[in-house]
Amino acid sequence: MEGSKTIHVEVHFTPTQLEEMMLKDKSVVVIDVLRASTTVITALHSGAKEIIPVGNIESVVKISGSMFGDVTLRAGERNGKMIEGFNLGNSPLEYTPEVVKGKTIVLLTTNGSAAMAKGRYSKNLVVAGFVNLSSVVAFLQELNGDFVIICSGKEHRFCIEDTVCAGRILNILREKGNLDLITDDAGEAAITLDKNVGKNILKMLKNSAHGRYLTEIGFGEDLKACAATDSMPILPTLSNNILRAARKILKPTA
Ligand code: MLT
Repeated sequence: MEGSKTIHVEVHFTPTQLEEMMLKDKSVVVIDVLRASTTVITALHSGAKEIIPVGNIESVVKISGSMFGDVTLRAGERNGKMIEGFNLGNSPLEYTPEVVKGKTIVLLTTNGSAAMAKGRYSKNLVVAGFVNLSSVVAFLQELNGDFVIICSGKEHRFCIEDTVCAGRILNILREKGNLDLITDDAGEAAITLDKNVGKNILKMLKNSAHGRYLTEIGFGEDLKACAATDSMPILPTLSNNILRAARKILKPTA
């Protein structure tokens, strides 16, 4: 593209092969459509003060134990269900203003929160889902530099919903035409997958392995919340291991 800077985008279908130091000083987008990304975005949209994503139960105990009880909520899931002794599960529908406004949330989920926590040495880390696509695209346009997309996947394996979301971000950036974007084979595959099955997000989520599992255990309504494209203009941004909503919300440029 004449005159514009070339941006290189690395896409990972799972965080498994990534080590924290590999992300040092990089700009990172973490995706866990079902459901940790959507939960984080919803919590901040409902006025939660901050979210501390962690990768294991020991960190939850350590962090929440050193904070005051009623302002800190322990949240997360194992096998999709709330962990015993926690205040909240991982259904975005639980994260209403009445429950989370002003609260600090320590979040432990099987794949998503661990992927977010891996980016602690990154230069910038933002959390993406379908619900905040435009805010993420606008951030990347303004960044105007190389970035890495990490799909959280499902237990160290590929999952379709995160990959389609990665492909959607790249497709929008390419369509807008103001970034000359070069990506790897994973990125090109994500772009192709979005073009093929991304037209009906809810249908794609319903057909996905994790979507079917969530429906089976009674969280079918969550899929609608996770599919609601651009319903929340929120950009969760990691700083010092804490996710907060970026103050400045940008709109994509044409
Ligand atoms: C995860 O991190 O694996 C999830 O967000 C799972 C879920 O609660 O649906």
